[in-house]
Amino acid sequence: MTNVIKADGETLRMGIIGDLHTHWDDVDVHQIGNQGYDLLFFTGDLGGGTPDSSLRMARSIARLRQTTLVMPGNNDTVDIDQLAAELNHQQGVNRILAITGQNTESGSIHLCGYTHHKVSVADHQLSLIAARPHSMGGPELTFPDYMANTYGIKSLDESVQRLRNLVDTACQDIIFLAHNGPAGLGDKPGDIWGCDFKPVGGDWGDTDLAAAIRYAKNQNKRVRAVIAGHMHLKTKQGEQRPWQLLADDTYYINAARVPRIFSGEDDVYRHHVLLCIDKTDIAFSEVLLPQYG
Ligand SMILES: [Fe+2]
Repeated sequence: MTNVIKADGETLRMGIIGDLHTHWDDVDVHQIGNQGYDLLFFTGDLGGGTPDSSLRMARSIARLRQTTLVMPGNNDTVDIDQLAAELNHQQGVNRILAITGQNTESGSIHLCGYTHHKVSVADHQLSLIAARPHSMGGPELTFPDYMANTYGIKSLDESVQRLRNLVDTACQDIIFLAHNGPAGLGDKPGDIWGCDFKPVGGDWGDTDLAAAIRYAKNQNKRVRAVIAGHMHLKTKQGEQRPWQLLADDTYYINAARVPRIFSGEDDVYRHHVLLCIDKTDIAFSEVLLPQYG
């Protein structure tokens, strides 16, 4: 577990950056770094399909100064130690600069996945549970050899058990973080995690994540939100998926607006999602930061 992440004020503000697919650069480091967020979460798929591009993005993310959680996506199946090293690269540089008196700030950037992160907002605590990393969705455990070697997970059943163990140690209030969203929210191509690349459609959500959410609710825990990406908001049929959904008192967020950097009529815009949460209230909003305006 990371150190307890503390909100600055009465409300925790978390910036959620959807699948990058290489759409991230110094402008984002500067813009998102200046929003005063307590915490950042990257839903993954940093690169464009090659290990080099994922590592290049990780090195850029490492320049952020906020506490940051990075969930590896299915496009980020690189050597996990190498990915962690890139994310920590700048911290090493910062430490050297701090020793020499040139820099006193230090970021705190963590790879997440099968991990538990505690957050404190005023006198209230909640748990962020990072679910299965590298998920590609669907009914099978993807990258089985890689998952066994890297996380010791050999089946979706083992994944469910690992997530249940995390729920057992969690606070009353939980937010799940994931690369792909849970099963059970629709099987049409335009549904929030519906399959848009098979003619028959289907539910492409993660069954282990859905089981963990059910388990948490059965334990009388409050699952306040589930935040993921992976299934791009614009479907292959040109439909627009909903980016948020409220079901059974839980918010489901799909932050994968791809590409997240795009040209509008008068400017270039950069997308992320803002979560504001305290003991009683929770709200999500889409944020489009203009690059020049
Ligand atoms: Fe993905």
